[in-house]
Amino acid sequence: MAVVSTSLTSQFSGLRRSSKLDRSPPAAQSFTQHVNARVCFSSCSPHQKPCRGVVSMAGTGKFFVGGNWKCNGTKDSITKLVSDLNSATLEPDVDVIVAPPFVYIDQVKNSITPRIEIASQNSWTGKGGAFTGEISVEQLKDIGCKWVILGHSERRHVIGEDDQFIGKKAAYALSEGLGVIACIGELLQEREAGKTFDVCFQQLKAYADAVPSWDNIVIAYEPVWAIGTGKVATPQQAQEVHVACRDWLKKNVSAEVASKTRIIYGGSVNGGNCAELAKQEDIDGFLVGGASLKGPEFATIVNSVISKKVAA
Ligand code: PGA
Repeated sequence: MAVVSTSLTSQFSGLRRSSKLDRSPPAAQSFTQHVNARVCFSSCSPHQKPCRGVVSMAGTGKFFVGGNWKCNGTKDSITKLVSDLNSATLEPDVDVIVAPPFVYIDQVKNSITPRIEIASQNSWTGKGGAFTGEISVEQLKDIGCKWVILGHSERRHVIGEDDQFIGKKAAYALSEGLGVIACIGELLQEREAGKTFDVCFQQLKAYADAVPSWDNIVIAYEPVWAIGTGKVATPQQAQEVHVACRDWLKKNVSAEVASKTRIIYGGSVNGGNCAELAKQEDIDGFLVGGASLKGPEFATIVNSVISKKVAA
């Protein structure tokens, strides 16, 4: 087992084995079989107690956890949620984002720790103007948003947004400097018909056709049948799709983008199942709905990054 004794910054970045993208589907491999590359933190020496190691991740991006509050909350409940998040201990090596309803973004931005960044749950396709009911990217930036969630299944399947419309929004948000959490995922009948990969690849292609760069995109794989249903994908089911998406990026965008783009999982993630999911090599974090409305539970999910680290 390779042990790298050089120092590591406090930021947790995955160590991708160079051949990883050419590997066969990993579903059959056990977690421990993946532990073939570890690093010691700089404080580690042979005379100290065993160092902490970091399990290799398929991607090279930092762990990323977003809380999608959807259309939930009141001024009072959000005050309480923010206060719980502010007092939570969060692992340092995770990007943490929350997406409040539009009307509470300002309240949250003004009261939440700067450790947590703000996302909106939607944005318009271009500059503001005569678009009743819409919110522009410029306005979102003006109140401190750094990210936007686009292509969420509730926007696709309840509101009726299509791939091209979502791609247009993504391209505009990126062009104005917002990060995009780009959601994809199949319906139950699509999974049962064996079309999971086809659907995910088609949705990925729509983003790829529209965006000028993948620098500021996080992909959220969210099987629709798992969202808000309590029916979480198994770690193996999620891992299998994440590997396929990374491979799609490699073949259709570039190896570099495939390696550095975070692919996070969403769909009934909670404090009880996050650790097992996080251990999967291609799961780079989570997009969390229901469980993100409870501060301590959301913190547990953020801190599931530690399940990627093992004692040496
Ligand atoms: P859920 O929602 O965690 O409540 O299933 C996830 C999402 O929609 O992002």
